Amino acid sequence: MICCTSRFGAAMAAVALAIVLGSSATAAGEDAASGQRIWKSKAGCPTCHGWSGDGFPSGFHSEGNAPSLRETQLTRDQIRETIQCGRPGTPMPHFDRFAYTDKRCYDMTAEDLGDLEPIRAPTTLQPYEIDAVADYVAGKIKGAGPVTRAQCVEFFGEAGSYCDKYPER
Ligand code: HEC
Repeated sequence: MICCTSRFGAAMAAVALAIVLGSSATAAGEDAASGQRIWKSKAGCPTCHGWSGDGFPSGFHSEGNAPSLRETQLTRDQIRETIQCGRPGTPMPHFDRFAYTDKRCYDMTAEDLGDLEPIRAPTTLQPYEIDAVADYVAGKIKGAGPVTRAQCVEFFGEAGSYCDKYPER
């Protein structure tokens, strides 16, 4: 009896774990998908970083030289902070409209920063949207290596021959 009870317990624990893992995987998947939508459309990150995050929006570097996010060394939380707060003294804008109204960003206000205050992005992102884009950048772009045709097709859908310029893998 003891054997069977504990076996049953173990089986139940495994089921519970599978449910937890399964549901969190789905949530992360949805987050990455909505993160990609925000990256692509709402926030307009590709204007400066390129659709693939490689730092070449239309084949050449944008004004302000947005870096390759595929090669970023930042952690997910540092990526999130950069999106929320921008980068003082650089063209990277902030997407939290209340950044620098209090000390939520780098413990600084607009007054502390003066001329170095990053510009406010034309679009405001809500905290959950900033989370979603940060998850997308950290999970799908960071460390992704050279751009492939498959990634291009995933991003644009079957976009005619546009993606043919990228290697298959
Ligand atoms: C107006 C152009 C512009 C837009 C739009 C823009 N960025 Fe940036 N971004 C930059 C520049 C320029 C830098 C480099 C800042 C520096 O010199 O430190 C940067 C830096 C970053 C970094 C830090 C990378 C690193 O390794 O230090 C992240 C992360 C980032 N951007 C994410 C985003 C995301 C996500 C979006 C959209 C929500 C976005 N950016 C929109 C121009 C832009």
